[in-house]
Amino acid sequence: MKVAESIAELNNLLAPYRAKHAPVGFVPTMGALHLGHLSLIRQAKTTNDVVVCSIFVNPTQFNDLKDLERYPRPIEEDKRMLEEAGCDVLFLPTVKEMYPDGDFSTLKDDFGTLDKVMEGVSRPGHFAGMITIVNKLFMAVLPQNAYFGQKDYQQLSIVKYFIEKHSIPIQIIPCPIVREADGLAMSSRNRLLNPDERKRAVLISQTLFKVRDMWGTKPIADLRRFVEGEFEKDGYMKLIYFEIANTKTLQPVTDNAKQAIACIAVFDGKIRLIDNVLLNA
Ligand code: PAF
Repeated sequence: MKVAESIAELNNLLAPYRAKHAPVGFVPTMGALHLGHLSLIRQAKTTNDVVVCSIFVNPTQFNDLKDLERYPRPIEEDKRMLEEAGCDVLFLPTVKEMYPDGDFSTLKDDFGTLDKVMEGVSRPGHFAGMITIVNKLFMAVLPQNAYFGQKDYQQLSIVKYFIEKHSIPIQIIPCPIVREADGLAMSSRNRLLNPDERKRAVLISQTLFKVRDMWGTKPIADLRRFVEGEFEKDGYMKLIYFEIANTKTLQPVTDNAKQAIACIAVFDGKIRLIDNVLLNA
């Protein structure tokens, strides 16, 4: 695996592939890699001549400085995992490379209804920062295909919207959530949980799976009360939001629509975790 720390180095490494129009696959990450990330790399390996993974903890998408500071950065372990997964190029830029001249301004774009709910409300400025860095990374890598996990379903929806709106010739490939044996969705933040918090965290996916089982049999208000009750009983974890949303617009659904998604965010101690499940009528 080759490592590029600057856009110039990345261009040099990718020039031979670009010259022969060989497809470049791209997996953007913030590091602290887990099997979910590796599944994106493996998926990218199946259809591209070269696979680039970026590791960049993007300061502009954190609305909480403490969250940015404590974000895990196990770079040597990440490099080993990427080598093993067959990643060809690791793009590992500095903050100065991605935000030259200390200019941390973010893109002002409109995502319709997509950023007005859930993470968009709970983490002001998060999606502006996210799309700013994703756009910068896309411009640096110039991939044909880019891979995003469905755990960040709202992020994925916004990236797809942005690509279509601006006619950017990149195929966005959604990849399924990868879960631990007990059901917890894999996340870089899981490693910040203490053993007690890690045990409790299983409640998140368990609750969502129960909602999926009950979908279509109970009014949405009852499902909401059920979820709130589960976290009240736990007493330690704090529910930030639970929404049942239209899979396209992300607006709350009020009836048992054909296709919906249940999305949740909780604080497990200081650690913020999100998850979702698709609900089919
Ligand atoms: O999902 C993430 O890890 C980040 O939001 C991304 C897409 C790498 C942008 O910083």
